Amino acid sequence: MSYKPISRQQNFKFVWLAVPSLVLGLLFSTYFISKDGISQDVGIEKSVFLDGLAQCRARDYNPVAPKHRTKNPRYKLGGELPTPPVLIKNATLWNGDGHLSRNVDILFQDGIILKVGNSLVDNFNGEVIEAHGHYVTPDSWPAFAGASDTNEMSESSTRPYLRSLDGFSPYDTAIRIINSGGVTTSLVLPGSGTAMGGEAFAFKHRLFPSNRSEDMLLNAGMEEQDGPKWRWMKMACGENPINNGRRKNQLPESRLGLGYLFRKRFDDAYQSLVAQDQWCYEAETLYKAHSKKAHTKIKSRFPEPIDDETMIALLRGKVRLNAHCYESYDLEAMIRLSHEYNFKITAFHHALEAWRVAPLLAKEGIATAIFADHWGYKKEAYDSSVKAAQILSNAGVQVVFKSDHPVLNAQNLIYEAAKAHHYGFDADLALKAVTSGPAERMGQDWRIGYVLPGYDADIVIWDKYPLAIGAHPLRVFTDGYTTFKHVDYDKSIVQDYDSSSIKESSHVKVDKPNAQASAVTYHNIAGLVHGPSATWEKNSVVVVENGVVTCIGSKCSAKGEQIDLKNGWVIPGLVAASVRLGIEEISSEPGTSAGKISTDDLLPSADGIFVGRKFSKALDAAFKAGVTSAISIFKSSTMIKEISDSTFIKRLVADHFQVDVSAPSNSISSSLAGQITTIGQNIGKSKTGVVAVDVDGAAQIYALLHNLPINVIIGGAEAHVLAEELAKKNVSVVLSPTRCTPSSWYKQECLVTGSSPTGYSLLHDAGVNVAISGPEDNFIRGLIWEAGWIVADLPNYHDLSDFEKAKHAASLLTWNVAKAFKLEGLVGTIAVGSPARFVVYDGIPGTLEAKVTLVVDQDLVENETDQY
Ligand SMILES: *[C@@H]1O[C@H](CO)[C@@H](O)[C@H](O)[C@H]1NC(C)=O
Ligand SMILES: *[C@@H]1O[C@H](CO)[C@@H](O)[C@H](O)[C@H]1NC(C)=O
Ligand SMILES: *[C@@H]1O[C@H](CO)[C@@H](O)[C@H](O)[C@H]1NC(C)=O
Ligand SMILES: *[C@@H]1O[C@H](CO)[C@@H](O)[C@H](O)[C@H]1NC(C)=O
Repeated sequence: MSYKPISRQQNFKFVWLAVPSLVLGLLFSTYFISKDGISQDVGIEKSVFLDGLAQCRARDYNPVAPKHRTKNPRYKLGGELPTPPVLIKNATLWNGDGHLSRNVDILFQDGIILKVGNSLVDNFNGEVIEAHGHYVTPDSWPAFAGASDTNEMSESSTRPYLRSLDGFSPYDTAIRIINSGGVTTSLVLPGSGTAMGGEAFAFKHRLFPSNRSEDMLLNAGMEEQDGPKWRWMKMACGENPINNGRRKNQLPESRLGLGYLFRKRFDDAYQSLVAQDQWCYEAETLYKAHSKKAHTKIKSRFPEPIDDETMIALLRGKVRLNAHCYESYDLEAMIRLSHEYNFKITAFHHALEAWRVAPLLAKEGIATAIFADHWGYKKEAYDSSVKAAQILSNAGVQVVFKSDHPVLNAQNLIYEAAKAHHYGFDADLALKAVTSGPAERMGQDWRIGYVLPGYDADIVIWDKYPLAIGAHPLRVFTDGYTTFKHVDYDKSIVQDYDSSSIKESSHVKVDKPNAQASAVTYHNIAGLVHGPSATWEKNSVVVVENGVVTCIGSKCSAKGEQIDLKNGWVIPGLVAASVRLGIEEISSEPGTSAGKISTDDLLPSADGIFVGRKFSKALDAAFKAGVTSAISIFKSSTMIKEISDSTFIKRLVADHFQVDVSAPSNSISSSLAGQITTIGQNIGKSKTGVVAVDVDGAAQIYALLHNLPINVIIGGAEAHVLAEELAKKNVSVVLSPTRCTPSSWYKQECLVTGSSPTGYSLLHDAGVNVAISGPEDNFIRGLIWEAGWIVADLPNYHDLSDFEKAKHAASLLTWNVAKAFKLEGLVGTIAVGSPARFVVYDGIPGTLEAKVTLVVDQDLVENETDQY
């Protein structure tokens, strides 16, 4: 017999045939190796041998969660001083398992919750917080937060060995901002740009005097008996890794290539795993036979190639895999792979098409980490469903909401749960999906995600019902430390608090008029918000004849067909400003777009229009959300663009320019000063009389104001800094996005949600005409809630009547937009003699309880308003 290296097939066979063949194989190879002249008696260093043996023995060790936790291993880490015990009294507690109870006391000390119950302690030496019935919940858990070290896109697409910890900056301002939204733990998943992004790490949003990111690790301070130390990992399928491959003309350029790449990589890892098992078998056998001399008999050290280490751990069930995959057949492909190589998938992220294969995911026990309604930005995100959470959950799939920070600001993670609830997802399940659900998927539900004795003291006190629009934490505890306290905390916490939850959706159905009816009277209106002069009036009606409003108010005589609005609220049709509706359908698909402009000429975007709700989901979704007109612009990386209206209410609306701070280069024209000069040279060319500029930075806005006749600022993250100036010069601001983040150098003065005062109130109080928009077309159907956020943050919110709330919300998307773009009389109001464009809600516009029941655009009336 001669020595034959073990072929791949044989290798597999050994494993499948289990011990007998494996023994034979090992004996033969040992025997022949010695015969080939490698001396068995040299062996390896003893400590190296023992270390390998220890690793072998740790392979199958799976620590279990402790039954009674009495300490939080993270307490007193990193030089932080201990804090006194805290007693929260009279909370309305949602505790993580769907249980809501009133008048609850919560006691915690040294970072761990000790007691939860009624009237806990009489004589207490510590901080007492009277919650006055405010809502208290476990903190929220997103599944993704990252800085810019998100992707390693160089060369290979499979880099399972990268670690997000290496790119985690403890000084990222996002850590504090996200925490202020009630988020105390994040699983930071690297990648999605490549097939295997790397190892993920879980962090708590608590900063330390030590300044060390390692102290922020969820697993920091943990000893073996404290519970299982899980590891996490991220992979991705679909468009992201494929597009990356195409850019470099390398694997993977297709789903087929991706499938091969995954198999190759798993196969490699599997070989390494088998090599380890073989080594372990040999080592144990030698250890039994030779005890202390065993290390002299073995030919090599325990094999642990760095490239495969994480993958082997995954195959051994010690790593929880999070896979970023969208389309149903991508999910299927990944599941196939998991069967071939025998590993578990913990959760599919993004997974906007998961709802199509809900039973499959339920059977596989795979959770989905999704968005409530973020959609349409690429092909694989086009067939999403706002009912996904419900569909998946009903099929038995665990649903978790994710932020995809910084794509969606993780600070507002709770908003995902709130929106899903709006679309019909059960409130308890929605709250679980940002607390105990993600904790369970991370393998941490024995420790975080609940307000129960023995859990980490990660607790949020809310100013409102957490699923209401604009809910903010008043105070956030992380490991028992106060990591966020709202500036108005003292004022807000003593407010007598209405702890009722929001009303469940009423599913009001409103009939639409007969298509032949030339006159229609809309009646039974709770509030008619027709324009800036509207005041509340009982028994108001709207009379429409041949698509034109002929009477509004309580004194009209009914004409034609009577449509009962079922006590609904009526506001003017919304105007989406500075969007690409009708110009572009899917932003990452050039084939669905009217194109980019590469010149500095003003081009009418109207010439690039496509029309028809029938063919455009984006237009249809917007219309069903009450958006009856849009000021659409070309997508362009250059500065000069023209705004026009997508339905040609007015073909040319504004000269539209962009100050692009993202890529100013050395050329004069692209420097910031050069851009402002070019804008100056081009202003007035199309004679629209409105000059609109996309710009965020206060310094750039200042330069524009002092050099050029600007009418509208779009973006405006720092516009509030120049509020007085803008008011004096009659310059309108279209805040886009409404909830800004300091995501770039030129947005650092943005006031994030929860700030007091807000950027909006500074502008508004100074007398600036403010409207809102975007940021992207996929947010259009949620624009009215962006208005709702602004209203909920008004300093006098609690003093406003329902009518005033509705009117303020409406103004931001209707007549204020018209005023900014000089479209008064054309859009933005319901006025006698004007085309009938209005939208009806079954609740107060801007709140999440309210649903659109009817959209009227002249003769066109839509009452089927369910979203995709
Ligand atoms: C708890 O707070 C609510 C709301 O402020 C209040 O009505 C109630 O009296 C409080 N209960 C106790 C025991 O303090
Ligand atoms: C952490 O950094 C701060 C400055 O941000 C410094 O004052 C402090 O001394 C540092 N802590 C340690 C342990 O060096
Ligand atoms: C829409 O109106 C039609 C005609 O009145 C009615 O039959 C239908 O049920 C309505 N649909 C909804 C969803 O209200
Ligand atoms: C601003 O608008 C007011 C009223 O519309 C007008 O009186 C004033 O002259 C305008 N100011 C500027 C600088 O355009």
